[in-house]
Amino acid sequence: MRLDKYLSDMTDYSRNDIKKLVKDKRVTVNGITVNKSDLKVSEADVICIDDEPVEYETFEYYMLNKPAGYLCTLDYSPNVLELIDSNRKGLSPVGRLDKDTEGLILITNDGQLNHRLLAPKHHVDKTYYVETDVEIKPEAVEIMSKPMQFEDFTSEPAKLEIQDKKKAYLTIHEGKFHQVKRMFAKIGCNVTYLKRVSFGPLQLGDLEVGQYRKLTKEEAASLK
Ligand code: URA
Repeated sequence: MRLDKYLSDMTDYSRNDIKKLVKDKRVTVNGITVNKSDLKVSEADVICIDDEPVEYETFEYYMLNKPAGYLCTLDYSPNVLELIDSNRKGLSPVGRLDKDTEGLILITNDGQLNHRLLAPKHHVDKTYYVETDVEIKPEAVEIMSKPMQFEDFTSEPAKLEIQDKKKAYLTIHEGKFHQVKRMFAKIGCNVTYLKRVSFGPLQLGDLEVGQYRKLTKEEAASLK
Protein backbone atom coordinates (compact mmCIF):
# COMPACT_ATOMS: atom_id res chain seq x y z
CA MET A 1 0.00 0.00 0.00
CA ARG A 2 1.05 3.63 -0.38
CA LEU A 3 2.77 5.36 2.51
CA ASP A 4 0.15 8.14 2.55
CA LYS A 5 -2.67 5.58 2.80
CA TYR A 6 -0.87 3.74 5.60
CA LEU A 7 -0.44 6.96 7.57
CA SER A 8 -3.87 8.42 6.87
CA ASP A 9 -5.49 5.10 7.96
CA MET A 10 -3.58 5.10 11.22
CA THR A 11 -3.44 8.79 12.16
CA ASP A 12 -5.55 11.93 11.95
CA TYR A 13 -3.30 13.36 9.23
CA SER A 14 -4.82 13.99 5.78
CA ARG A 15 -2.96 13.01 2.62
CA ASN A 16 -1.94 16.69 2.23
CA ASP A 17 -0.64 16.82 5.82
CA ILE A 18 1.38 13.69 5.08
CA LYS A 19 2.90 15.25 1.94
CA LYS A 20 4.03 18.13 4.12
CA LEU A 21 5.42 15.82 6.84
CA VAL A 22 7.42 14.00 4.15
CA LYS A 23 8.63 17.30 2.67
CA ASP A 24 9.72 18.38 6.16
CA LYS A 25 11.72 15.10 6.47
CA ARG A 26 9.73 13.93 9.50
CA VAL A 27 8.81 10.48 8.11
CA THR A 28 11.12 7.44 8.06
CA VAL A 29 10.67 3.94 6.68
CA ASN A 30 12.96 1.38 8.26
CA GLY A 31 15.14 4.19 9.58
CA ILE A 32 15.54 5.99 6.25
CA THR A 33 14.04 9.44 5.73
CA VAL A 34 11.69 9.31 2.75
CA ASN A 35 10.98 11.99 0.17
CA LYS A 36 7.87 10.59 -1.54
CA SER A 37 4.48 10.12 0.09
CA ASP A 38 3.31 7.63 -2.57
CA LEU A 39 6.13 5.20 -1.74
CA LYS A 40 4.99 1.53 -1.59
CA VAL A 41 5.20 0.15 1.96
CA SER A 42 3.93 -2.93 3.78
CA GLU A 43 2.82 -3.76 7.33
CA ALA A 44 6.24 -5.34 7.89
CA ASP A 45 8.00 -1.96 7.47
CA VAL A 46 8.79 0.19 10.49
CA ILE A 47 7.26 3.56 9.77
CA CYS A 48 7.86 6.53 12.05
CA ILE A 49 6.74 10.14 12.29
CA ASP A 50 9.18 12.21 14.32
CA ASP A 51 10.85 8.93 15.37
CA GLU A 52 7.56 7.61 16.84
CA PRO A 53 6.56 4.27 15.30
CA VAL A 54 3.10 4.15 13.71
CA GLU A 55 1.85 0.55 13.70
CA TYR A 56 -0.63 -0.63 11.11
CA GLU A 57 -3.80 -2.37 12.23
CA THR A 58 -5.64 -4.10 9.40
CA PHE A 59 -8.83 -4.37 11.39
CA GLU A 60 -10.42 -2.04 13.88
CA TYR A 61 -12.95 -3.21 16.46
CA TYR A 62 -15.02 -0.76 18.48
CA MET A 63 -17.63 -1.23 21.17
CA LEU A 64 -20.16 1.61 21.19
CA ASN A 65 -22.86 2.30 23.77
CA LYS A 66 -25.47 3.31 21.21
CA PRO A 67 -27.76 6.13 22.29
CA ALA A 68 -31.48 6.02 21.48
CA GLY A 69 -32.20 8.02 18.33
CA TYR A 70 -29.25 6.63 16.33
CA LEU A 71 -29.71 4.15 13.48
CA CYS A 72 -27.63 1.12 12.60
CA THR A 73 -28.48 1.62 8.91
CA LEU A 74 -25.68 3.66 7.42
CA ASP A 75 -27.71 5.30 4.61
CA TYR A 76 -29.60 7.33 7.19
CA SER A 77 -28.61 9.98 9.68
CA PRO A 78 -27.93 10.13 12.57
CA ASN A 79 -26.27 6.72 12.43
CA VAL A 80 -23.89 4.90 14.77
CA LEU A 81 -20.82 5.46 12.57
CA GLU A 82 -21.18 9.21 13.04
CA LEU A 83 -20.21 8.65 16.68
CA ILE A 84 -16.90 6.94 15.83
CA ASP A 85 -13.92 9.17 15.15
CA SER A 86 -12.12 7.06 12.55
CA ASN A 87 -11.48 7.53 8.85
CA ARG A 88 -11.18 3.81 8.10
CA LYS A 89 -13.15 2.58 5.11
CA GLY A 90 -15.52 -0.37 5.51
CA LEU A 91 -16.49 0.16 9.14
CA SER A 92 -19.97 -1.11 9.83
CA PRO A 93 -22.06 -2.32 12.78
CA VAL A 94 -22.40 -6.04 13.45
CA GLY A 95 -26.15 -6.57 13.34
CA ARG A 96 -28.68 -3.96 14.31
CA LEU A 97 -30.37 -2.40 17.29
CA ASP A 98 -33.66 -0.55 16.90
CA LYS A 99 -33.55 3.23 16.76
CA ASP A 100 -34.94 3.48 20.31
CA THR A 101 -32.64 0.77 21.75
CA GLU A 102 -29.50 1.66 23.67
CA GLY A 103 -26.42 -0.36 24.38
CA LEU A 104 -23.64 -2.50 23.05
CA ILE A 105 -23.03 -2.51 19.33
CA LEU A 106 -19.83 -3.84 17.82
CA ILE A 107 -18.41 -1.86 14.89
CA THR A 108 -15.63 -3.21 12.69
CA ASN A 109 -14.09 -3.22 9.23
CA ASP A 110 -13.47 -6.98 9.59
CA GLY A 111 -16.12 -8.09 7.09
CA GLN A 112 -15.48 -11.80 7.56
CA LEU A 113 -15.97 -11.61 11.31
CA ASN A 114 -19.06 -9.46 10.86
CA HIS A 115 -20.53 -12.04 8.52
CA ARG A 116 -19.62 -14.97 10.76
CA LEU A 117 -21.06 -13.43 13.94
CA LEU A 118 -24.40 -12.97 12.19
CA ALA A 119 -24.55 -16.43 10.60
CA PRO A 120 -27.34 -18.53 12.17
CA LYS A 121 -24.97 -21.41 12.94
CA HIS A 122 -22.73 -19.10 14.99
CA HIS A 123 -25.51 -17.73 17.16
CA VAL A 124 -23.98 -15.39 19.67
CA ASP A 125 -25.77 -14.92 23.01
CA LYS A 126 -27.03 -11.40 23.55
CA THR A 127 -28.30 -10.09 26.87
CA TYR A 128 -30.76 -7.21 27.12
CA TYR A 129 -31.90 -5.17 30.08
CA VAL A 130 -35.63 -4.61 29.67
CA GLU A 131 -38.20 -2.36 31.33
CA THR A 132 -41.89 -2.95 30.72
CA ASP A 133 -45.19 -1.10 31.15
CA VAL A 134 -46.82 -3.81 33.29
CA GLU A 135 -45.63 -6.48 35.70
CA ILE A 136 -43.66 -9.38 34.24
CA LYS A 137 -45.40 -12.46 35.63
CA PRO A 138 -43.10 -15.17 37.11
CA GLU A 139 -44.56 -17.71 34.59
CA ALA A 140 -42.78 -15.73 31.84
CA VAL A 141 -39.48 -17.36 32.88
CA GLU A 142 -40.86 -20.78 31.93
CA ILE A 143 -42.61 -19.50 28.78
CA MET A 144 -39.43 -17.88 27.42
CA SER A 145 -37.28 -20.87 28.36
CA LYS A 146 -39.17 -22.84 25.70
CA PRO A 147 -39.36 -22.18 21.96
CA MET A 148 -41.87 -19.41 21.20
CA GLN A 149 -43.72 -19.45 17.92
CA PHE A 150 -43.76 -16.31 15.74
CA GLU A 151 -45.09 -15.80 12.23
CA ASP A 152 -41.61 -15.82 10.72
CA PHE A 153 -39.52 -17.87 13.19
CA THR A 154 -39.46 -19.94 16.37
CA SER A 155 -37.21 -18.60 19.10
CA GLU A 156 -34.65 -20.83 20.76
CA PRO A 157 -35.00 -21.24 24.52
CA ALA A 158 -34.14 -17.93 26.16
CA LYS A 159 -33.16 -17.04 29.71
CA LEU A 160 -35.33 -14.51 31.53
CA GLU A 161 -34.11 -13.15 34.87
CA ILE A 162 -36.71 -10.97 36.56
CA GLN A 163 -35.12 -8.19 38.64
CA ASP A 164 -38.17 -6.35 39.76
CA LYS A 165 -41.88 -6.24 38.80
CA LYS A 166 -41.18 -4.39 35.55
CA LYS A 167 -37.46 -5.00 35.06
CA ALA A 168 -35.60 -8.01 33.73
CA TYR A 169 -32.62 -9.34 31.81
CA LEU A 170 -33.29 -11.51 28.78
CA THR A 171 -30.62 -13.56 27.00
CA ILE A 172 -31.45 -14.66 23.48
CA HIS A 173 -29.47 -16.49 20.83
CA GLU A 174 -30.86 -15.16 17.56
CA GLY A 175 -31.24 -11.56 16.50
CA LYS A 176 -34.56 -11.40 14.70
CA PHE A 177 -36.26 -8.11 13.91
CA HIS A 178 -37.74 -6.62 17.13
CA GLN A 179 -37.19 -10.01 18.78
CA VAL A 180 -37.11 -8.90 22.41
CA LYS A 181 -40.10 -6.57 22.00
CA ARG A 182 -42.05 -9.35 20.25
CA MET A 183 -41.22 -11.91 22.94
CA PHE A 184 -42.45 -9.54 25.65
CA ALA A 185 -45.54 -8.66 23.63
CA LYS A 186 -46.42 -12.38 23.67
CA ILE A 187 -46.56 -12.32 27.46
CA GLY A 188 -48.64 -9.12 27.47
CA CYS A 189 -45.89 -6.58 28.21
CA ASN A 190 -44.79 -3.57 26.17
CA VAL A 191 -41.09 -2.81 26.33
CA THR A 192 -40.62 0.79 27.51
CA TYR A 193 -36.79 0.73 27.66
CA LEU A 194 -34.32 -1.65 26.04
CA LYS A 195 -30.58 -1.80 26.37
CA ARG A 196 -28.15 -4.47 25.18
CA VAL A 197 -25.60 -5.19 27.90
CA SER A 198 -23.65 -8.03 26.35
CA PHE A 199 -22.85 -9.51 22.97
CA GLY A 200 -21.15 -12.90 23.12
CA PRO A 201 -18.08 -12.50 25.32
CA LEU A 202 -18.28 -8.67 25.23
CA GLN A 203 -19.73 -6.78 28.20
CA LEU A 204 -20.86 -3.15 28.01
CA GLY A 205 -19.64 -2.51 31.57
CA ASP A 206 -19.60 1.15 32.59
CA LEU A 207 -19.17 2.60 29.09
CA GLU A 208 -21.33 5.74 29.04
CA VAL A 209 -24.16 6.21 26.53
CA GLY A 210 -22.73 7.71 23.32
CA GLN A 211 -19.16 6.68 24.23
CA TYR A 212 -17.07 4.05 22.48
CA ARG A 213 -13.76 2.31 22.95
CA LYS A 214 -11.49 0.03 20.97
CA LEU A 215 -11.72 -3.63 21.93
CA THR A 216 -8.66 -4.97 23.71
CA LYS A 217 -6.61 -7.55 21.78
CA GLU A 218 -8.05 -10.25 24.08
CA GLU A 219 -11.64 -9.13 23.45
CA ALA A 220 -11.11 -9.07 19.68
CA ALA A 221 -9.50 -12.54 19.81
CA SER A 222 -12.39 -13.88 21.90
CA LEU A 223 -14.79 -13.18 19.02
CA LYS A 224 -12.90 -15.34 16.53
N1 URA B 1 -34.81 -6.83 20.16
C1 URA B 1 -35.58 -5.77 19.91
O1 URA B 1 -36.81 -5.83 20.00
N2 URA B 1 -34.98 -4.60 19.59
C2 URA B 1 -33.63 -4.46 19.51
O2 URA B 1 -33.14 -3.38 19.23
C3 URA B 1 -32.84 -5.59 19.77
C4 URA B 1 -33.47 -6.77 20.08
